[in-house]
Amino acid sequence: MSHPLLAGKKGIIFGALDSQSIAWKTAEAVAAAGGSFVLTNAPVALRMGTINELAEKTNAKVIAADATSLEDLENLVDQAQEILGGQLDFVLHSIGMSVNVRKGRHYTDLNYDWLAKGWDVSAVSFHKLLQTLYKKDAMAPWGSIVALSYIAAQRTFPNYNDMAENKAYLESIARSFGYFFGKEKKVRVNTISQSPTLTTAGKGVAGLDGFLNYAERMSPLGNATAAECADYTVSLFSDYTKKVTLQNLYHDGGFSNVGVSQEIIDSLPSDE
Ligand SMILES: NC(=O)c1ccc[n+]([C@@H]2O[C@H](COP(=O)([O-])OP(=O)(O)OC[C@H]3O[C@@H](n4cnc5c(N)ncnc54)[C@H](O)[C@@H]3O)[C@@H](O)[C@H]2O)c1
Repeated sequence: MSHPLLAGKKGIIFGALDSQSIAWKTAEAVAAAGGSFVLTNAPVALRMGTINELAEKTNAKVIAADATSLEDLENLVDQAQEILGGQLDFVLHSIGMSVNVRKGRHYTDLNYDWLAKGWDVSAVSFHKLLQTLYKKDAMAPWGSIVALSYIAAQRTFPNYNDMAENKAYLESIARSFGYFFGKEKKVRVNTISQSPTLTTAGKGVAGLDGFLNYAERMSPLGNATAAECADYTVSLFSDYTKKVTLQNLYHDGGFSNVGVSQEIIDSLPSDE
């Protein structure tokens, strides 16, 4: 899909690790829609990933920033405005990590140092980013900021572990900071609650394959892919959604409003 919806718009995209990343697909979609941007990721991810390939393809500069470091964020926001020539129109926060998930620690036996680290990376980093953009007056009026979430913020999914709380916190930050960004700067802040997706972060969740299958059969339109999420984000960065803010927007093929699907019922053994 490519319409010049973002012609002349500029921004920052966090979280493109490899070609499966939601942020990678978003960078491609934003570039196809005429937007220009700076790509950023944690220094360690830049060393491991293939972001330079994406940068070349989308004509973007890459700036390293650990999203938990205020100093890195300040430097990033200053440099991005210098490179792109002024205030920003869009920012994507596509960052998530739980040490407890990575190390296979069960939810009933959490390591709290790891919990604090994952919370900082996955949730507080969004506040740090918003605060940096706000204080530096780095967003243009009618700009749009999007972060990625998951429905475990509202409902229980056993293997999602402490990421469930991180996503609930992230969504709350979008509402709380979105109020001030709207009032003072006319800037939108939203989260997209995306279907389970096969990415590096997604694969960290135990049993993702079975779960993808289940969600596919529960969703009337099927699971939303990373590329479809990218298109949705382009619409939220565009001028067609100027009054959408403080929302958690489900992008999940309808999963969030289905109690049970006939396919799931038919797949269960019957008592008769
Ligand atoms: N994959 C799914 O099933 C799914 C579903 C819903 C929401 N999400 C969310 O989408 C977002 C993107 O994840 P993804 O699935 O594309 O996986 P991904 O692994 O490709 O992306 C996660 C990114 O977070 C970055 N990151 C980690 N620590 C960081 C730090 N300290 N500073 C800066 N960046 C850091 C990683 O380098 C990586 O690029 C996450 O918020 C994730 O929770 C994913």
